[in-house]
Amino acid sequence: MNYRTLGDSDLKVSVIGFGAWGIGGSPFWSNEGDTSSVRAILKSYELGVNFFDTAPVYGFGHSEELLGKTLKPFRDKVIYATKCGLRWEKKSLSAITKNATKQSILEEVDQSLKRLDTDYIDLYQVHWPDVKTTQAETMETLLKIQRQGKIKVIGVSNYSVDQMKEMMKFGKIFSLQPDYSLLNRSIEKNIVSYCQNNKIGIIAYSPLASGLLTGKYSKNSKFKDWRGKGIIGCFSGAQFEKNIEKVGRLKTIGESIGKTCGQMAINWIVSQPHVTTALLGVKNEKQMEENIEALDWELTTKQQEEINHIFAVDE
Ligand SMILES: NC(=O)c1ccc[n+]([C@@H]2O[C@H](COP(=O)([O-])OP(=O)(O)OC[C@H]3O[C@@H](n4cnc5c(N)ncnc54)[C@H](OP(=O)(O)O)[C@@H]3O)[C@@H](O)[C@H]2O)c1
Repeated sequence: MNYRTLGDSDLKVSVIGFGAWGIGGSPFWSNEGDTSSVRAILKSYELGVNFFDTAPVYGFGHSEELLGKTLKPFRDKVIYATKCGLRWEKKSLSAITKNATKQSILEEVDQSLKRLDTDYIDLYQVHWPDVKTTQAETMETLLKIQRQGKIKVIGVSNYSVDQMKEMMKFGKIFSLQPDYSLLNRSIEKNIVSYCQNNKIGIIAYSPLASGLLTGKYSKNSKFKDWRGKGIIGCFSGAQFEKNIEKVGRLKTIGESIGKTCGQMAINWIVSQPHVTTALLGVKNEKQMEENIEALDWELTTKQQEEINHIFAVDE
């Protein structure tokens, strides 16, 4: 496992991070249960993963609790990343709202510390931009809880360049967590260069396009979790069919060199010089074992060109 510095912070994160959305379970995901999730977390740690990303909204607190309980014995060796700015009135997808106000963040950070059973959060990220709250209010609150020692490093997620620019007027952002995979390369247009110029680390989320890039799905696949709700183009309609076709071509290249489709997608993403770490969601320890095998080998220039052609940026 390799480790890279996150932006110009002092956090050294593993190039593969553990994404703890799935272990939260319902209503987003169905998973194999907590026993499997705990084994997946421990296996990841054993394999050298030191970076664990969660959020209050994942399983409405369950993901943070499970992570905190499982990693408690190794607390000083692992990096916890959690988030703020998404609240819920009741435990339902439609009840989630954006709120990055001072009042909300002050409440949320204490709840996350409690659920994670820790005194500090290594990386605290605003989950989604809240356009009803000024970036000044959000950043000033984050700086306040940083001075109190509750959080160490400040990051954002799903922010545009303009939103980052505005927030940077009030304090330093050390990382951005965007949706980034072979099937979604939109950050390459202007976000990557802004992050590089401002020493903001990039934490790629959904690097397997939430499972699609594993190559195990077909045009006829049906999803019982959020992926079946038609929320994003990646899993619905003509775009889904187009994606399945592209993934099939990646799978064929992988087969020619003895790699799984998922390993090809992970290898590609961690090889991008602008990516600090990629957050993988896994349902069990076997999936992480397979995913780790995506490291320590290189695609040839010809394979990279072929892959870039299949997953062209502007398509
Ligand atoms: N900041 C944000 O707004 C945001 C949004 C999304 C995600 N994230 C972060 O990114 C993390 C990862 O995102 P993600 O869960 O969407 O995506 P992902 O890593 O792209 O895909 C994960 C899914 O792929 C399948 N999978 C993984 N490894 C596999 C293997 N070896 N063999 C077969 N299937 C495998 C599993 O689902 P199935 O087995 O069910 O197919 C798994 O749940 C999240 O946990 C979270 O930390 C952040």
